[in-house]
Order: sequence, then C-alpha cells, then structure tokens
Amino acid sequence: MSGNPYQDDRGNKDASITNPHGQGTLIASGTQVRPMPGGDGPFLIGENMTGGYGKAGPDILHGCTIAVEKGEIAVIVGPNGAGKSTAMKAVFGMLDLREGRVLLDGEDITQLTPQARVRYGMGFVPQTSNIFTSMTVEENLEMGAFIRTDDFRKTMEQVYELFPILREKRHQAAGELSGGQRQQVAVGRALMTQPKVLMLDEPTAGVSPIVMDELFDRIIEVARTGISILMVEQNARQALEIADKGYVLVQGANGYSGTGKDLLANPDVRRSFLGG
Ligand SMILES: Nc1ncnc2c1ncn2[C@@H]1O[C@H](COP(=O)(O)OP(=O)(O)OP(=O)(O)O)[C@@H](O)[C@H]1O
Ligand SMILES: [Mg+2]
Repeated sequence: MSGNPYQDDRGNKDASITNPHGQGTLIASGTQVRPMPGGDGPFLIGENMTGGYGKAGPDILHGCTIAVEKGEIAVIVGPNGAGKSTAMKAVFGMLDLREGRVLLDGEDITQLTPQARVRYGMGFVPQTSNIFTSMTVEENLEMGAFIRTDDFRKTMEQVYELFPILREKRHQAAGELSGGQRQQVAVGRALMTQPKVLMLDEPTAGVSPIVMDELFDRIIEVARTGISILMVEQNARQALEIADKGYVLVQGANGYSGTGKDLLANPDVRRSFLGG
C-alpha cells in the first residue's frame, strides 16, 4: 500500500452499508436503546482498564486505555501475548474489570453484558472461531442478525454489495471458503446488527498480502460510512498506514500511542515493533 490511503480514488463512495441518515440511527429498529447524549470524549473508550481472566486470575491489563472516534479507524498492535485480544474482550464486556470503565458515546457501559453491548451498537469479530463453519454463508449472516426483529434483508444485500464473493457462495458451507473469504463472512456477520462500532481482532490473519489489502480497503469503506473501527492487527505496518489512531500494547499497558503516521515515523516503534 502506498501513498495516502484516504485519497479519493480509493474504494468506492457507496455509503449504503450503513443507515443513510448517518450516525446515531444505525441500531436495528425494534431494539430498546436509551438516547445517548453525545459527550466531549471519544466515541468509544476503554479507559484505564485493569483486569484478568476469572475471579482470581492475575491482571493481564494494567491501566490500558484504548479509544476510537466516530467513523475513524483505531489499530492496536503489539507482540504476541501483549494482551491485545484481552483488551478487545474487555471493551466488549467479556472480562470483569478490576479498574477502569468503558464509555460508548458518553454512556458508561462497563456493567453491560456483551449481548447488551451488541444492542447498544457494538459489533465484535473475535480472533478465532468467528464463523459457523458447518452453516452456509447466508445462514451465518442470518445468525448475525439475531437481535433484530425487523427485516434485515436490506442489510444482507449491503453486505453482499461490500463482499460480492459472499453472494456467489451464499449457499456454500462457510467452512469450505478460503481464509480471506471466511474473514469476510465474519465481518459481514458482525455488520448484520448495523453496529456503530465494529471491533475486529486480526481480520487479516493468515491471508495473502493481496487479500489483506482488499480486506483493508473494505474496512476503510465501512469506516467511511460512519462506523468506528477498532482493530487488532499483526500486520502492524500496513494497518498503521490506514489507522487514524494507533496503540502499541506492551505487557498489558499502553506502550506508545499516536496517529498511525506518528507511530510509523517513531524510531523506537519502528525498531521494536515494525522490524526497523
Ligand atoms: N482465556 C484465558 N484465560 C487465561 N489467560 C488467558 C486467556 N486468554 C489469554 N490469556 C493470557 O493473557 C495474556 C494475553 O493474551 P492475549 O490473547 O490477550 O494476547 P494477544 O496480544 O492477543 O496475543 P496474540 O498476538 O498471540 O493474539 C497471555 O498471557 C495469555 O496467556
Ligand atoms: Mg490476540
């Protein structure tokens, strides 16, 4: 990837994956959501998060803070075992925090279950087991719409427009697809709830550089529609190139943070985390 990823000839200008009326009305109609006051803080923030697994497990996160603004892409990078997935799980409510809180559009959602967070506008694609392999592509998308009581056909159509190969393969078992196509199923499934924030844990794991580039293009497209993207990436350099904001996590704490550009230019970050 070269040059400015936000240049106008990148991707298409179709904003149809999201509600045309923009941010704030993306949640599936029919779900019960309190009106959310817009605050001055970031759109989504996991603030000063400290915690680990289970009641007695050691802390994995140590005062970790991760945030993303509306329609922006925030990327978390860092060595294996740094706690990147744990930070994502904490933001999604799969971890009991011992300290810190999670705010979405100014509302404290720290006590909400993951299911409640989905209703609140969060979509999460975990690092592993993120599709139902024995179900068809279309059944996976239908499963994604589980919280919706309204007609989700239009959203499914938008997912197929974003990922045309999924339309072609919609009656095939998802487990028969290539790695990149499976990741498209996983992202598509998460989009079915019309999230305001899409959290992706290593969406390009195990795919070729070309497929990685294509996936990043689609992710940029989704962000352009006003959906915030919070993404963990092993392909740190390429991910930081498309990131508005980047976080380098080291042993469960914030090592470095800044704009994607800043981190790419930072000599320490380059030497320690980007291979020079
Ligand atoms: N379910 C779990 N129960 C207990 N400990 C866990 C669990 N999942 C992860 N850990 C521990 O938490 C620490 C951070 O793991 P985590 O998966 O968050 O790292 P990561 O940065 O996502 O790594 P990777 O790049 O390999 O995906 C590790 O020490 C790991 O062993
Ligand atoms: Mg991980």
